[in-house]
Amino acid sequence: MFLGLDLGTSGLRGILVTEAGNITGDATSSYGVQHPKDGWSEQDPANWIDAFQKVMSELKSNYSKEYQAIQGIGISGHMHGATCLDIDGNIVRPCILWNDTRSAKEAAELDAIPSFHEKTGNIVFPGFTAPKLVWMARHEPQNFSKIATVLLPKDYLVYWLTGRLVSEMSDASGTSWLNVGQRDWSESLLENTGMQRDQMPALLEGCEAVGTLKDDVAAGLSLETSVIIVAGAADNAASACGIGAFEEGQGFVSLGTSGVLLAAKDSYAPEPASAVHTFCHAVPDKWYQMGVILSATDSLDWLAAVLGKPTTDLAALLPGEANGPGRTRFMPYLSGERTPHNDADARGAFINLSKSSDPAGLCQAVMEGVSFALRDCLDALKTTGTELSKVLAIGGGSRSPFWLDTVANILDLPLEIPAKGDFGAAYGAARLAMIGAGGLTVSEVMIPPRTEQTINPNPRLSDAYAEAYLKYSKSYTALKEIS
Ligand code: XUL
Repeated sequence: MFLGLDLGTSGLRGILVTEAGNITGDATSSYGVQHPKDGWSEQDPANWIDAFQKVMSELKSNYSKEYQAIQGIGISGHMHGATCLDIDGNIVRPCILWNDTRSAKEAAELDAIPSFHEKTGNIVFPGFTAPKLVWMARHEPQNFSKIATVLLPKDYLVYWLTGRLVSEMSDASGTSWLNVGQRDWSESLLENTGMQRDQMPALLEGCEAVGTLKDDVAAGLSLETSVIIVAGAADNAASACGIGAFEEGQGFVSLGTSGVLLAAKDSYAPEPASAVHTFCHAVPDKWYQMGVILSATDSLDWLAAVLGKPTTDLAALLPGEANGPGRTRFMPYLSGERTPHNDADARGAFINLSKSSDPAGLCQAVMEGVSFALRDCLDALKTTGTELSKVLAIGGGSRSPFWLDTVANILDLPLEIPAKGDFGAAYGAARLAMIGAGGLTVSEVMIPPRTEQTINPNPRLSDAYAEAYLKYSKSYTALKEIS
């Protein structure tokens, strides 16, 4: 039995998965995100540990036989968060998250140093880890001087479980300190941010074993000390493992807190100017590319909160199929944007509101706005030479048939819906544990799921969506001038 954990932005999920790939147990515990200032986004790592303990105790009481049989654990997590530890392993300050844009200035400064593009293959986005440390050096010098190690969020959980300070290539790719082609820390990039190699965790591949549970942790969890923890993966790489996306042409669209359009790559072929992310995959010698938008379900959750409705009730106001774009448009830049604009200051907007604008119409506009932003990602991926002829749909937003249909029409790509099951990040993390703790091989484990349904774009609607997308694309520049 393998445990896959996903340390998500809004909560931690744990699933128990058999060697044959069947999910036999599932538990989730939520936590919040703190926004002490506009554009700031933080979490207290202690909340991750609390959530982990709650998930484990729920799994233990609801699925005790399966729980006792756990032999390996894989962990996925949200990327880029600066989790700073002092020399004794204590947390220095709350973790600064992936969608925090306070270090936009520092990011732009680093991005202007040519070696960052050359070595990392990526823009230094404000959400990435390195500019956060430069921000800390300038604004919180006392905290900065205490930093002995910088971990990524899921690596903190690995540290808590094993006592080892390690990371792996897929998550390290989002720091701006990794030479992504060579899969190693770059001492010169670290130096450019006032950091050094001994403040970085050791690097493994995601499917490699880190070690076993610490004695006290094993006792507290009622598990054997022989349980092996693997290095795991960044959430998007883990999701790619979950759907078995490793070859050119395979990819997914994810409607999570952030929105992602990901394509697997056989080789390292970066194109930083496109604002596409090029990162190491969770297994050796593989990479992937993705366009990332910062507010996907986050936009819908925001609207639901403003309207005082649960998000699922809001989504349920829409029919099962899309029937052409609405007149109201939404720009989903609630937390700034990465692909394609790299603009931390961008903000959201509704356009064309009228007296007939109602919750259903606003909800449709939000789902369309997010889908148009993903279309921007598709076009950005195309400029790097990456082609996708279909994509698998994952993430919480994919529970809305209307949204899926809208995405298929706006991307003008068939969307594959996996057969009943769960192929997200937690599942991918469990698959990594099967390799590093269960002795299976990548090709034995990383198999694409059976497709239950394919949602094809409707040719009757394609002109209308193309026209609406054209207007959407013009809105960013037009609004930028007046905001
Ligand atoms: C990827 C990114 C997000 C987070 C949160 O670069 O920032 O997808 O990993 O899910």
